[in-house]
Amino acid sequence: MKITVIGTGYVGLVSGVCFSDLGNHVTCVDNNPAKLDILKQHKVPFYEPGLEERLVRSAVAGRLTFTDSIDAAIQDSEIIFSAVGTPQTADGSADLTAVYAVAHAVCKAYKELGCNTHKVYVNKSTVPVGTGDIIAGIRDDYGLTQDQLSILSNPEFLREGTAVYDFYHPDRIVLGSSCEKALSKCSELYDPLYRSDTPIVKTTLKTAELSKYASNAFLATKISFINEMSNLCELTGSDVKDLAKIMGMDGRIGRYFLHPGPGYGGSCFPKDTQAIIHTADQLGYDLKVVKAVEAVNERQKLHIMTHLTAVFSSLQGKTIALLGLAFKPNTDDTRDASALVIIDALLAAGATVRAFDPEVPYLPEIKSDQVMYATDSYDAVTGADAVLLVTEWNMFRELDLTRLKSEMKQPYFFDLRNVYAPEKLEQAGFTAYVIGRQLIETTIAADT
Ligand code: NAD
Ligand code: UGA
Repeated sequence: MKITVIGTGYVGLVSGVCFSDLGNHVTCVDNNPAKLDILKQHKVPFYEPGLEERLVRSAVAGRLTFTDSIDAAIQDSEIIFSAVGTPQTADGSADLTAVYAVAHAVCKAYKELGCNTHKVYVNKSTVPVGTGDIIAGIRDDYGLTQDQLSILSNPEFLREGTAVYDFYHPDRIVLGSSCEKALSKCSELYDPLYRSDTPIVKTTLKTAELSKYASNAFLATKISFINEMSNLCELTGSDVKDLAKIMGMDGRIGRYFLHPGPGYGGSCFPKDTQAIIHTADQLGYDLKVVKAVEAVNERQKLHIMTHLTAVFSSLQGKTIALLGLAFKPNTDDTRDASALVIIDALLAAGATVRAFDPEVPYLPEIKSDQVMYATDSYDAVTGADAVLLVTEWNMFRELDLTRLKSEMKQPYFFDLRNVYAPEKLEQAGFTAYVIGRQLIETTIAADT
């Protein structure tokens, strides 16, 4: 099949590359010239495991091309995906500027090119319920009909860092439209995944749109819930790792997304929880659970500061090392990363920060000469009073703890991701905090 994907971010590029890998002919469109330059050299402009080799394979085989021209891209395409960003605005709502700009550009091109075949306009971006109907209205305003351009919602559920795997092994594919022809054309495109047992759920446009926010809000709820339980474990001397295991063994609860940490970050959960709250507010409905989920998440990002200030009566002049800056492992994405909030708090308390992340060389968001970027984990902890393990990259799972400790001024290890057993850190000579499992005895004087 010939398809177009507009927007070459995590969602658009992964979809474009993987659809072409399945044998389709894909044209990827972006309006960012710098990004296009990189793509045309067959390179991926961000870190996503497994993507570049597939991009090269399809591009070399002539099934994948890149352009800035929507007109050229859509002329022969049967399906046109829009996968542009929907960032958060100041009031929490989703910014749909790019979504509508693309809708206008596609309708205009369809009309001006004199296209006379049926095409499906698929929205893959995360958009508020009702957006598809507005796009259908834009289409109508151009004098086009559903028989020419039908509108379908196909929300994307991939995760950064495992995006390629998730594309080939989704839990479900959701297709929402009132047009049977559109539903069947998109089912055909997804047939290779359907044949390998992926369920396809066909529903209305609105339900498909809302299902994306509902899913993200529910996953965020699980995280905030376990973070609160973790805090309760700390207060009661219980063990969150065992607690989550016990809870997760109940099939009704499920074991995924029960890992405590420094709060969820990234380009999706924070903005999507805000957006669904905004949608409900607009309708006069108070979405109490999701509001609480957000409030817990904001508090959780700074939870570690309570422990740090309990151990060090003052952080003034202290050097704190951070291992991990990305919002999760296997990505270089730092959008809404908890590390940003923690670093700001450390700097405000007078500390100096030394940081290392294997894929984030520095944080342009932090404007301070009090943050030093290290070349590896051991360099990061040199002269540090404490080390915080913030992102659970695999390379932080088997650190040479004896060497790490020997580089530090004081042996304080704060594991915010439950990577190490408390005993293992203690055997290496650390005084250790492990989230939800072990606190540091605060009578120890740490202000040397
Ligand atoms: P992104 O910001 O990484 O990429 C968006 C791309 O669209 C950019 O390359 C940008 O240059 C391009 N673009 C913007 N306006 C354009 C225009 N008018 N014409 C052509 N190109 C244009 O975004 P993303 O992370 O890929 O997310 C896209 C959407 O998918 C969002 O709604 C997001 O919520 C949703 N989503 C993201 C993920 C994820 O893991 N990142 C997962 C599922 C869903
Ligand atoms: C998330 C969803 O998992 C995807 O299904 C969805 O498509 C995507 O958002 C989106 O809509 O963009 P992503 O943000 O890439 O994917 O990453 P996750 O693995 O979900 O992690 C999000 C945040 O939650 C990270 O900061 C992570 O550290 C945190 N998290 C996750 C926890 O703190 N505990 C957990 O148990 C799981």
